[in-house]
Amino acid sequence: MNYIIINNKKIELNNVSEDTPVLWVLRDHLNLTGTKFGCGVGMCGACTVLVDGVATRGCQTLLSEVKEKKITTIENSEDKEMNILRMHWKEEDVAQCGYCQPGQIMNATGLLKENSKPSEEDILDAMDGNICRCGTYNRIKTAIFKASKDI
Ligand code: FES
Ligand code: FES
Repeated sequence: MNYIIINNKKIELNNVSEDTPVLWVLRDHLNLTGTKFGCGVGMCGACTVLVDGVATRGCQTLLSEVKEKKITTIENSEDKEMNILRMHWKEEDVAQCGYCQPGQIMNATGLLKENSKPSEEDILDAMDGNICRCGTYNRIKTAIFKASKDI
């Protein structure tokens, strides 16, 4: 592979091993540091990106697995669901330290792309694997619920 599609841009990737996790391709090779490293073992959600619109753990997904697929990261400013979520994130003053929040927003974006009118249970189920050490869970749930009304 010598290119990857990130946030609708085709990017040349030379001298990057195909067994490099997407998280490290983004952070180390492309300086897209909005995607965070938390646990590195698929348990916290900090590294969540979208692959063809589906929320995916960047630490558990290899470059070889995303050939010809579209990756969306928190740096994307043109995604409809993500921008609506951002607005409600701000209105609800969701973030505290902020470290987990890119992964939370990406996971919520994946949810709203799959199910634009989620129930409270749907939201809790979808967001269950995204850990927030600051305990912002209730505000996250409210922001997603309000965003779903605008979609
Ligand atoms: S860093 Fe990928 S799930 Fe925690
Ligand atoms: S806002 Fe601090 S870890 Fe979630």
